[in-house]
Amino acid sequence: MSVKALKGFKDIVPGEVETWQFIEKTARGIFHRFDFDEIKVPILEKTKLFTRSIGETTDIVEKEMYTFADRNGSSLTMRPEGTAPVLRAYIENGLQAKKAVQKIYTIGPMFRHERPQKGRLRQFHQIGTEAIGSLSPYLDGEIISLMVKIIEESGIKDYVLKLNSLGCKEDRKKFSSLLREELKAEEKFLCKDCQRRIKKNVLRVLDCKNDQCRRVAQKLPTTLDNLCSECADHFKEVKKSLDTLGIKYAITPHLVRGLDYYTRTAFEVTCSGLGAQDALGAGGRYDDLIEEMGGPKIPAVGFSIGVERMMLATEAVEKQEKPQSVVKLYVATIGPDAYQYGYKLSNDLRKQNISCEIDYEGKSLKSQMRAADSLKARF
Ligand code: HAM
Repeated sequence: MSVKALKGFKDIVPGEVETWQFIEKTARGIFHRFDFDEIKVPILEKTKLFTRSIGETTDIVEKEMYTFADRNGSSLTMRPEGTAPVLRAYIENGLQAKKAVQKIYTIGPMFRHERPQKGRLRQFHQIGTEAIGSLSPYLDGEIISLMVKIIEESGIKDYVLKLNSLGCKEDRKKFSSLLREELKAEEKFLCKDCQRRIKKNVLRVLDCKNDQCRRVAQKLPTTLDNLCSECADHFKEVKKSLDTLGIKYAITPHLVRGLDYYTRTAFEVTCSGLGAQDALGAGGRYDDLIEEMGGPKIPAVGFSIGVERMMLATEAVEKQEKPQSVVKLYVATIGPDAYQYGYKLSNDLRKQNISCEIDYEGKSLKSQMRAADSLKARF
């Protein structure tokens, strides 16, 4: 029996890969306009990098990481997201000394052991950005507008930008106690996961997808009603920055996000055609994380979009907008001597940046013409 790919690990075959390239090229062009630099970081990291940053009690850390022992026994994890590795690299390479505000992006695979379904894979790819070094709400606005631009320029129109503020660390702490108090009488109506979350990660009760939990959550107080004055002002300015840019958003008071590091701004872009896994991308501000990871006290904001979900959402985009592999010239030959000449000629043409193709099977001229035709060769 032939060996098949792992469940949730998908091949991106020719015919699909053009859409991928189109999205990546679109994103890279926009990053350039926004003065972002690329960073490439390893796929494998020490496990504690993720447990410390994402949060011990998050679903990702509790049940979704690909964690295994290295040959020397140390615990390694295949990165489930990109923010922690990028920040580790930022601290380790002293990037803060190079630019006051570092705007960096990374593109690559992430791994989460989730139940595979449409739009949810175990190996998926993110285009992620981190803008490090400023508390300004106008940086939040810029980051959000950048994300929206990638989505729009990829041809996706049917999307909603959801926006919330989670407040600072102190706000979150106070709000968590308030929620626990409120939930005392409601605990029995919650799903098993949320009953556990009350003690460990109570904010997550707010955005649980379970119907019963949603009914309870609707009556609960929101983070927005419990922001300190500085965080409330910051949020007001974030909204103003988006208004200035003409970006529409839906205030979503129960948007919490599944990673513990967010403070203040949290956002998500959903697309209605995608079904249950409708988040094209998401992000937020994380003003304490770099310090908590052992770096300097530097605030930051970022987002990631999922390439496979973008591909699902761009299926409707006109094919001709995407790059197709085009063979410009087909070198057809008759007889062995001409083949030697044609073989060399096609190589010379490729050196001059002209895409061309040649037969490898000793086909008749008629078959070679047919092959040229099916490759849509122009000459
Ligand atoms: P996240 O919300 O966990 O955020 O993931 C961002 C995006 O990755 C999602 O909106 C979705 O498009 C895609 N994604 C996540 N899990 C899967 C999956 N199993 N299959 C397919 N696509 C998936 C983060 O990862 C944060 N690091 C974002 C960020 C960057 N925050 C600040 N900077």
